[in-house]
Amino acid sequence: MFKLAPSILSADFSKLGEDVAALEKAGAHLIHVDVMDGHFVPNISFGASIMKSIYGKTKLPFDVHLMIENPDKYIADFVTDNTGYITVHQEACTHLHRTISHIKSFGVKAGVAINPGTSLCSIDAILSEVDMVLIMSVNPGFGGQSFINFSLEKIREIAKIRKAGSFNFEIEVDGGVTVENVESVVSAGADIVVAGSAVFTNGNIDENVKRFL
Ligand code: DX5
Ligand code: ZN
Repeated sequence: MFKLAPSILSADFSKLGEDVAALEKAGAHLIHVDVMDGHFVPNISFGASIMKSIYGKTKLPFDVHLMIENPDKYIADFVTDNTGYITVHQEACTHLHRTISHIKSFGVKAGVAINPGTSLCSIDAILSEVDMVLIMSVNPGFGGQSFINFSLEKIREIAKIRKAGSFNFEIEVDGGVTVENVESVVSAGADIVVAGSAVFTNGNIDENVKRFL
């Protein structure tokens, strides 16, 4: 069994509260919050105030994915009673251990994300400290891109590393996951699956979430 974390990047922002309530009702497990700054990634999405606008509209934990430079500066803004995870990119953190400790100091689970072009060995030293490893299966910045196939090998590899090292982190996979390929992503080792466009396509949230699950 895996957890489904729909990304509100693909939601209808004019009725975000309704969309989030529909996700919960359909059986989603987390609300994935994609924050983009136009620097770390070539796109701007939204900030903490938009995330806070759905506070109270759902009991599902927020799974915050910070695709931003200088994440330390903004982490506190994303802490709410509903914030389950905050994930930062290895590529954006000069002092990754400090940033992960900063997230955990708020009592929030801390995740580290790596881009498709970044090797798993770059996060070796932090694996004992994180609650989640996020394997990006597209280059971050946009919803609706195609799944990069070599990500499956990376998911298998991080699952092996977790077992060999008796680590406790969850494995999340983000980008290009659809009803058609979710099974291969989960059998490779994903515990949490992010899906944006595939969940919101045709505006039929209920049916799309149920097909995923
Ligand atoms: C990519 C984001 C993803 C993305 C997923 O930069 O981190 O969460 O929105 O969207 P889909 O599922 O459409 O690839
Ligand atoms: Zn994401």
